[in-house]
This record gives sequence, C-alpha cells and structure tokens, in this order.
Amino acid sequence: MIPQSFVQELLSRIDIVDVIERYLPLKKSGANYFACCPFHGEKSASFSVSPSKQFYHCFGCGVHGSAIGFLMEYSGLGFVDAVKELASQVGLQVPDDGRNASTHDDASERLYEAVALAARFYRDQLKPARNAVDYLKRRGLSGEVAARFGLGYAPDEWQALQKIFPDYDAKTLADAGLVIDNDQGRRYDRFRGRIIFPIHDRRGRIIAFGGRVLDKGEPKYLNSPETPLFEKGRELYGFFLAQKAIRDTGFAVVVEGYMDVVALAQYGIENAVATLGTATTPQHIHTLLRQTDRVVFCFDGDAAGRRAAWRALENALESLRDDATLAFLFLPAEHDPDSFVRAHGADSFRAAATAATPLASFLIQELAGRHPLDTAEGRAAFVHESAPLVNRIGAPLLRLQVVKSVAETSGLTQAEVELALGELAARTPRRRATPDAAPQASTTASPDEPSAAPPRPRRNPQPAQRSRPHGRRKPPSTTGTLLRLVLQHPTWAARLPVSLVPDSSPEGLALIAIIDMLSLGEPIPAGGLGALIERFRDTPHAETLSRVAAELVESEFDEAVVETLFEDALRKLHADSVGNEIAALLQRDRESGLDAAGRHRLGELLIEKRNLASSGKVSDL
Ligand code: UTP
Ligand code: MN
Repeated sequence: MIPQSFVQELLSRIDIVDVIERYLPLKKSGANYFACCPFHGEKSASFSVSPSKQFYHCFGCGVHGSAIGFLMEYSGLGFVDAVKELASQVGLQVPDDGRNASTHDDASERLYEAVALAARFYRDQLKPARNAVDYLKRRGLSGEVAARFGLGYAPDEWQALQKIFPDYDAKTLADAGLVIDNDQGRRYDRFRGRIIFPIHDRRGRIIAFGGRVLDKGEPKYLNSPETPLFEKGRELYGFFLAQKAIRDTGFAVVVEGYMDVVALAQYGIENAVATLGTATTPQHIHTLLRQTDRVVFCFDGDAAGRRAAWRALENALESLRDDATLAFLFLPAEHDPDSFVRAHGADSFRAAATAATPLASFLIQELAGRHPLDTAEGRAAFVHESAPLVNRIGAPLLRLQVVKSVAETSGLTQAEVELALGELAARTPRRRATPDAAPQASTTASPDEPSAAPPRPRRNPQPAQRSRPHGRRKPPSTTGTLLRLVLQHPTWAARLPVSLVPDSSPEGLALIAIIDMLSLGEPIPAGGLGALIERFRDTPHAETLSRVAAELVESEFDEAVVETLFEDALRKLHADSVGNEIAALLQRDRESGLDAAGRHRLGELLIEKRNLASSGKVSDL
C-alpha cells in the first residue's frame, strides 16, 4: 500500500517536464512545453505540458493527467509501478508495508469482486426465468452463444441482489453501479427485469453490465454508469472475446448494439465489437488499431446510422495511419447487423464488410453530396467545409490523397487546395476531439438532434471564437465556475461555506470534496494541479476534476478578473440559497401558515435578499 502522503511528496519533488522529456522531445512555447502527441498520430504539436500546473494535456485528442498518469498511459504501467518508477528517478524509496497493493488496488479489487458476483447471480437467474429464456429464443439466440457471452437475467425485484450481498448497504455496491440510492435514501437494484449483457475489459474481467428490457419498455437498454472500472469512451463490448478473431480475420467490425455483436457471433462472425451507447471515440480507434490495420464501422442504414458514421469519421481523423484502413459499411435502411445477418447470412455480411466504403471516399462523398458542385458557390463551400477535416487527418499520405480528391471534385489544382487549406487552417479554431467530450453524444437517434444530414462543421467562425477554444461550450454553471476558479487557486476553497455548495452536480460534489479536504486539515497538494488530481484518484471525483483541469489548461481565467468572478459566484450561491429558503417558507405559509419563528426567519431572509441585491451584480434575484 502506497500512502497518499508519499504520492504527494513524490509529486512535489518531481517536475512533470523532466519526466515527460525522458520520453518525448519537448519544445518550450510561452509558459508551456509542447510535443507531438504520443497518444494519437499527428504532425503538429498539440500535446502540452504545463510546469506551473504539473499537468499534461493534448488539445488534439484530449488525453490529460499528472506525471503519474503520463507514465501509466505511456508505458502501460499500473499505478503502483508508475509511482515506483518515478520514485526511483528521484531516488526516493517507496514505503512498503509488505502488502504491496495500494488502497487503490484494494478498492478496485472489491469492485471487481462485487461485479463478478453479480454477474454470476444474473447468469444463474436466466435458466429459471421462463419469460427471459423465451425472449432470447424468440430473438433466435442459441444456448451456446448465450453462454459464450455470459448472458444473464436480473429478476424483476427491487432488491434481488440482497440475496448475494448480505451487506446490501455497502458503499462498494453503489461504487460498482449495481444499485441506485434514491433521494429518500432508499437503495434498490439498478437492473430489474432485464436481460443482462456483462461487459468485459481487455483482460476479460467483468466491469459493467448492459441490461435490455424484455420486449417493450423504456429505456430499451440500461447500462452501468461510469465507475472506477468502467469508462464508456474506452471500452468496447465484446472486445475481449473478439480479439483472437480480429487477429485471425485481419479486421475488426464495429457495430452499435449488444445484440448485433451477439447475433454476428452466432453466425460465425466473431470479430465484432460494439460501442456502448456512445459515439466512437479516438480511444476506441486506438484500441482497435493496436490489434489490426482494418476497421469496418457498420451502421444502420437510416439517417441516425449515417450521423453516427459521420461522428465516427470525425473522431477518427487524428488517429488515422497510412498503413491502416478505416471503412464504413451502410446496411440497407431496414436492417441492423443483427437482422441483416439473419436475413442474408454470414457470407453476405462478410462480402459487404469487404466492400465497405473507405473513410476517405465516405468523407468526399458525404461533403460533395451537401453542395451543388455545378456552381462556383457550391464548389467553394465544398472546399471550405472539407478544410478543417482534411487538416485534422493524422496520416500524411492519406491526407495527400484526400487533398487530391478535394481538388478533383472542386475543379481546383492540388496546389490551390493546399493554399486554401493553409489559409483556412490559420483562421479556424482547432476542433476538440476529446475522449471526454465525444462520448456525451449518443449514437442513437435522439429527438433533439437534427434528423437530415450529419452534423455540419460550423461555418464562418466568428472572429471572437478564434482565440477562445471554448466558444462553443455551454457556459458553465455557478458551481462549474467556482470549481474552475478553485482549481486555479486551490486555497480559495477555504473561503467557500460548504453548506452553500449545491451537491446536485458532479462539479458541486467535487468542490465539496476539496473543501472537506481542507477543513479536515489536509494541506493543499504541493505538486500543482497534477498532485491535486492524484489526491482524488479513485474517488468519484477523479473524472470531473481531471476534465475540469484539462479545460483550465486550454483556457484559464484571466488573473485580472478571477477575484471578481469568485466573489460574484459566491454571492450568487448565497442568493440562490436565500431564494430557495424564502420560496420554501412562502410555500409553507400558503399551505399551513407560518408560526412566529417562521415569520421572523422570513423577515430576516427578505432583508438579506435585499442586501445581497444591492451589494452585487446578482441580477436575477
Ligand atoms: P438500438 O436501439 O439500435 O438497439 O441501440 P439494438 O442493438 O438493435 O437492440 P435490439 O436489437 O432492439 O435489442 C443500439 C445500442 O445503443 C445503446 C445500446 O448499447 C444498444 O445496444 N442503447 C440503445 C442504449 O444504451 N440505451 C437505449 O435505450 C437504447
Ligand atoms: Mn437490433
């Protein structure tokens, strides 16, 4: 077990710049250092290392973290080994109490155990559940394939898991995503009355579940939430089982659904994996390209499928390699891979996969289809829209081929296209394709998405957005702003009354955790933002904190305004809390009348509200 105090001391002694420089040549530019990102193919240096924050961040693919995180990611080391490696670099001895597992490993071990136990329980529940077995039979699944994928059934009961977890209140069950705690403090099983699809990690351990309703019901699929074991943008359903077939057949098929993977396997196509209710992320593509040099994305033949394909294309551009092919297979409109393989058989599916449209052709076809190429305006718009995409292609030779196609399609020469690309690149802000941003978008059709064409890259970027990479991001909430300010100035957490911070968002919860840390007398980590992130590794706040830290690296608040921002935000929190209490008292007054104490309190609050309104810029009081 490595004590947190040792991790903190280590991080305060090392410099992330020295650590990363051992592996990558860094170049200083302004306050930060830059290199070509080792985690995705690229020609321009978008990988940045901040000595003041002790944090790295890639503007291209979004990877980020502390020095420890870098070593883990770069060398594939586990946490303990990464700490040992760093310690040896600065001549520190890792304290070892004999049980060489960190708290981290203990905690994850408990999560793995809980998930494995639940998986066994669900599997055992399948056979006796007539309705579930009938359902799978109706869907044409064989017993063998159900066994291969470890399918199970979650009984339609609120607390079925109590049978295997006598300590049903244990924190581990919530951390593993197996149960839900409602607002009234009651706990119940997340999966009830559903077919269970266990999700394995790369090493074959079960880390999460997908659950499908029998027949009709909403939501059709329910997935485990993100947990310390399960990151949706990273995992691919079926990957562990498909690995061998991917190597043997020389390609991987990416589909959208659990059922698609299972049905394809039943028909002998075992090299298929599915994204987990998210868009395909750059991390997914890395994972697959490490196994094979051909990836075929297979999408439903409807408008939603085409949108999902376009999103996969956008997320793949930076990861492209000249020695690999990504291709897109569009099924007939009425089919998904499951129904297609049942209707037409495995050979037809294989033939379609072989004939899939290569990424570069899909890109040109799709863009060309959006503009009338028989007019000068249409051709100009076509080149304009291609530019940001072409400029993100990580593979130099493939990029060249695409430039040629753009030239042919637009009637320009290759040199003219390059010139236009260069000019547009200078004027267009880099689009972020981060693993944490991409999975937000579901690949399935949702009512708030445009239904016709795939989402278009923004046209005519406004001048103001050139220098603001987050121009398109929705403005953060008050809590979000406060968290960013606190990450910029951690000591300020001590100025926040914890009772005012709403605990309804991940940002709020992370903020509360930092305030609690300080009020318990723990010092602010001395090794910069990187060390603060490490302090919260394997807590529920890890993801939020590192995401917000990465945002901060991209655009920090101007020091000239931080103090004002902080005070405004604090006042707003205060005003919200006063407003909420007033509303509650007025409501009580209407319902049952207020007693003297209540009326007194209301009076106080109204005065406080007036004072707050006159003292600050809180406009919406
Ligand atoms: P589909 O709705 O296309 O489902 O969602 P499917 O795989 O064809 O399912 P069947 O054939 O009706 O059983 C594709 C994928 O999107 C995610 C799941 O991962 C699903 O497999 N999804 C879909 C959800 O996460 N939640 C939903 O409510 C629906
Ligand atoms: Mn289906």
